[in-house]
Amino acid sequence: MSNEQAVSGPGENSLETRSVSCSDLSRVLEIERQGYSHPWSEAVFLDCFKDNYRLWALCKEGALIGYAVVAYLVDEAHLLNLCIHPDSRGFGAGRYLLEHLVDKAREDGMTQVLLEVRVSNRTAEQLYRSAGFGEIGCRPGYYPAANGPEDARVMTLPLDK
Ligand SMILES: CC(C)(COP(=O)(O)OP(=O)(O)OC[C@H]1O[C@@H](n2cnc3c(N)ncnc32)[C@H](O)[C@@H]1OP(=O)(O)O)[C@@H](O)C(=O)NCCC(=O)NCCS
Repeated sequence: MSNEQAVSGPGENSLETRSVSCSDLSRVLEIERQGYSHPWSEAVFLDCFKDNYRLWALCKEGALIGYAVVAYLVDEAHLLNLCIHPDSRGFGAGRYLLEHLVDKAREDGMTQVLLEVRVSNRTAEQLYRSAGFGEIGCRPGYYPAANGPEDARVMTLPLDK
């Protein structure tokens, strides 16, 4: 995975996307632990370094501020993780990274992007809806949560050829 892209991002600073490497893992884990009540372990991330996975890093002024993990399953891109450092949220970074991974999935011949999102995660839901994702179903009790399992919305974005 060698795709790199540097363009003018939101605000004054440029954002850059590139592939995540193993040397990024400590920073990724630091962000992951601040992003989720039930963060992925290092072993889970390591298991994603496979040919049919895309691990995208989002950098600002050279520092990694977010990442996304996508699994390509036949012609379907499954967005498994999208996370932005808390200090870098709210200025368009999440949308930028989402658009990047969608563009790459289209280029790679995928026909749709599919994801699950906690029903309580209104911020992410709004991001996905505003990017054109539609809700196609629910997975009951999909996520662990403090007060018992939580349902997931299943959302998809069909990709034009
Ligand atoms: C979800 C997440 C990736 C959004 O990243 P972000 O960089 O803050 O998002 P952006 O600034 O690009 O905002 C994009 C859209 O998200 C929505 N959004 C962002 N912050 C929001 C908030 N506080 N409340 C409601 N909607 C919000 C809006 O629709 C926004 O579009 P707008 O600016 O045109 O209104 C980020 O909050 C995050 O990392 N959360 C923790 C991990 C997580 O929940 N990941 C998703 C798992 S499915």
